[in-house]
Amino acid sequence: MGIKHFLQFADFTLDECEYVIERAHLIKRKFKNYEPHHTLQDRTLVMVFEKNSTRTRLSFEAGMHQLGGAAIYLNTRDSQLGRGEPVEDAAQVMSRMCDVIMIRTFGQEIIDRFAANSRVPVINGLTNEHHPCQVLADIFTFIEHRGSIADKTIAWIGDANNMLYSWLQAAQVFGFHVNVSTPKGYDIDPALVASDNARYTIFVDPSDACEGADLVTTDVWTSMGFEEENAARLKAFNGWIVDAAKMKRARPDALFMHCLPAHRGEEVAAEVIDGPQSVVWDEAENRLHVQKALLEYLVLGRLA
Ligand code: CP
Ligand code: NVA
Repeated sequence: MGIKHFLQFADFTLDECEYVIERAHLIKRKFKNYEPHHTLQDRTLVMVFEKNSTRTRLSFEAGMHQLGGAAIYLNTRDSQLGRGEPVEDAAQVMSRMCDVIMIRTFGQEIIDRFAANSRVPVINGLTNEHHPCQVLADIFTFIEHRGSIADKTIAWIGDANNMLYSWLQAAQVFGFHVNVSTPKGYDIDPALVASDNARYTIFVDPSDACEGADLVTTDVWTSMGFEEENAARLKAFNGWIVDAAKMKRARPDALFMHCLPAHRGEEVAAEVIDGPQSVVWDEAENRLHVQKALLEYLVLGRLA
């Protein structure tokens, strides 16, 4: 069997996701009780960052240490990747010196090429097209607060970006529905969604997308790598703020999530992100627990 990677959400079956989530619950409990959990002793994670990060770096690096292993940080500026070393060559070399690799980069094809040349599992720490670790942590957070996510409705208010594409893949895996409202011109690219994905509905009006939702979620209006579009996006996204009025259209017990970093007053009102329905800090913390379970699963497989 080939090496198991996590390059996009659809790489995992429901069974695999449920296993990782179950381990994440155990790992989180042990972390809270200061119980050691050193399943990756003497193992090494290499992290490659071609874009900025706070949460992803911190959660992978701290997580690997807490599992008894070591984490090494590389970025484009300091490594030969920034001087044009082919990604295939970098993958060959890096994967001979470590047990697992996490990459944050631009196009998905870069991580696909890297993984095809890697001797060890590769994890997508965000590309232009996908952010599967964040969505796995978000689903874990939903389950912690509300139980099963199957058959629930998630409202996505924002552009068709890496988070949305991962939510759409996760909807097929877990069997929930996504109400999508994107501003005109920032809509879903059908090439990035499976043709048999019937787990989403498009709404022109973002308030209508929130109707009856169990979870409302959004993201920055300008993702990393698209900075030159910022001024145009500010205009086009007018009306796409998640505010109290939109949250009122959702179920009374609806949660609010945002992968962070957030811009209060742009994609989300302070009253929502800092309000009682928001679980953004749990979401951020859960990156740690879920990714520890993910690292363990990819390196060791299922533990009894
Ligand atoms: N949510 C997330 O991935 O955050 P960072 O960009 O800080 O890693
Ligand atoms: N969509 C955002 C997520 C940041 C964590 C970006 O790609 O910049």
